[in-house]
Amino acid sequence: MQPGKRLLDKVAIISGGASGIGAETARLFAAHGASVVLCDLQDELGHGVAQEITDAGGVAEYHTLDVCDEDRWLFIVADTERKYGKVNVLGNIAGISGRPAGMTVQTGNIAGTPLTEQTLENWNRIMAVNATGVFLGTKSVIPAMQRAGGGSVINISSICGIVGSFANAAYHASKGAVRIFSKSAAIQYAKDQIRVNSVHPGFVDTPMARPGLLGNESGKARMEATPLGRFGKPIDIAMGCLYLASDEASWVTGSELVIDGGLTAG
Ligand SMILES: NC(=O)c1ccc[n+]([C@@H]2O[C@H](COP(=O)([O-])OP(=O)(O)OC[C@H]3O[C@@H](n4cnc5c(N)ncnc54)[C@H](O)[C@@H]3O)[C@@H](O)[C@H]2O)c1
Repeated sequence: MQPGKRLLDKVAIISGGASGIGAETARLFAAHGASVVLCDLQDELGHGVAQEITDAGGVAEYHTLDVCDEDRWLFIVADTERKYGKVNVLGNIAGISGRPAGMTVQTGNIAGTPLTEQTLENWNRIMAVNATGVFLGTKSVIPAMQRAGGGSVINISSICGIVGSFANAAYHASKGAVRIFSKSAAIQYAKDQIRVNSVHPGFVDTPMARPGLLGNESGKARMEATPLGRFGKPIDIAMGCLYLASDEASWVTGSELVIDGGLTAG
């Protein structure tokens, strides 16, 4: 392995690759030698990230993907295997907050919709993208990873998958599902050297989280609750994903990597 190149010859598919943590993870993986297939619903941004990577000398391409669409997952996995010969890494990073439109600021103990006002439609949508999307991505990629002799599936959960709060209970439930789904998948496919781990970010400054972080009471409270005294940057999470994707983590499966500035340590 060349110094600085921790993913040489690896092929990675990354959902949510057009923005925030997914885009940064794609950039980092490519900088470490991986060929990266980014997928998202935001086509213009996604093409832009792929272009940025290829302009910097990396290998990347972008595909439209709704993570709830199993056929599309199967197409992307097959297309990746056909073009690059294999799939080694899947980053299930796409997600939604499910915050109701218009609720841009989450404050104190009215951070989300109270349960009695939560609609079934909102619940189902959050579970579909955040939990079912992770299931479909993992399911679709496993046969290709078996053919490759192993692989690494990295599922982005959240600290919300470990602890509860006043925020949207459906978001918590979806991220809790990702956490325990990852452990089950890890046990089922360890025999194939397919590793499955979850990552649990705290508050990270991305387009999704920014409305609740900057310039309001909610942001102040969240900053105070973060012992390291700053919000996360997408690169903080991407670095954890890099470790899990690399062979350095070859004995790591079914684990949960918390990257939260110490928020849940207390
Ligand atoms: N930012 C945080 O504070 C934070 C904290 C914990 C966990 N997370 C998780 O990190 C992941 C990345 O979020 P982010 O903060 O980078 O936000 P982001 O909004 O910048 O990125 C999320 C991406 O997912 C894509 N996406 C949404 N629905 C999709 C679908 N159905 N199919 C395909 N793509 C879809 C969006 O288009 C977007 O590009 C999410 O799973 C989120 O829940 C974020």
